[in-house]
Amino acid sequence: MPKLLTPTAPTEENHRHIHVSGHSQHIGITRRGMLTASAALTGAAMTGAISVALAQKANLRPTSEQVLGPFFPMTLPTDQDADLTVIAGKSGRALGQIIYVSGRVTNVRGEPVANAELEIWQANSVGRYSHPGDQNPALLDANFEGYAKIRTGADGNYSFKTVKPAAYPTGIDGWSRPPHIHFDIKGRTSRLVTQMYFAGEALNEKDSLFTSASEAGRKSLLARYGAPTGKQERDALVALWDVVLGFG
Ligand SMILES: [Fe+2]
Repeated sequence: MPKLLTPTAPTEENHRHIHVSGHSQHIGITRRGMLTASAALTGAAMTGAISVALAQKANLRPTSEQVLGPFFPMTLPTDQDADLTVIAGKSGRALGQIIYVSGRVTNVRGEPVANAELEIWQANSVGRYSHPGDQNPALLDANFEGYAKIRTGADGNYSFKTVKPAAYPTGIDGWSRPPHIHFDIKGRTSRLVTQMYFAGEALNEKDSLFTSASEAGRKSLLARYGAPTGKQERDALVALWDVVLGFG
């Protein structure tokens, strides 16, 4: 006759053990689960935050284009370096307010565009271009370079020294262009022809070229002022302007 197995009667000991063990295991799983879930959530939150940050970082608005304009130099000067206030071989210095312009060229993901080429040209301190087509009677400045060709470093940064260009009349219906500097920027695959403007100029909002850009576009064209460093002239202005190229 088969032996009948009788179930073990629950005792206080095994009940407590089972209960405690089960409880303990349950708690252990719960706590581990909670910790794991918490870590996962924290990780997800952090990943999410990073993703959001990257998404934000990855979504920079390309700097707006502006027209080339009629005054790109017909003949490029011999001296094309990053100091437009002096011309090699001349002892004089350009007239006007010294201004250091600098910034960073990136793609829309915020990654620096190394070795981008920047061609820069501008009117002098009284609003005259060194160009045969400029009808402005304001005087040329023989010591002003007026044009430069520079490149960004590995960090995408560029800088140059110049004088602040003056506003100038266009000869069209009393329209005066606000102070601005022309740029033709070539990255690895993107090219941007545009103009940099200075924040706070009353003529900006009256300028049909500047206002042809959207509000966000106008913001992308405005340089903000910074403070000169100890290595710069104390009365120098500092203009900071970052550039975003669509594809870098
Ligand atoms: Fe211009």
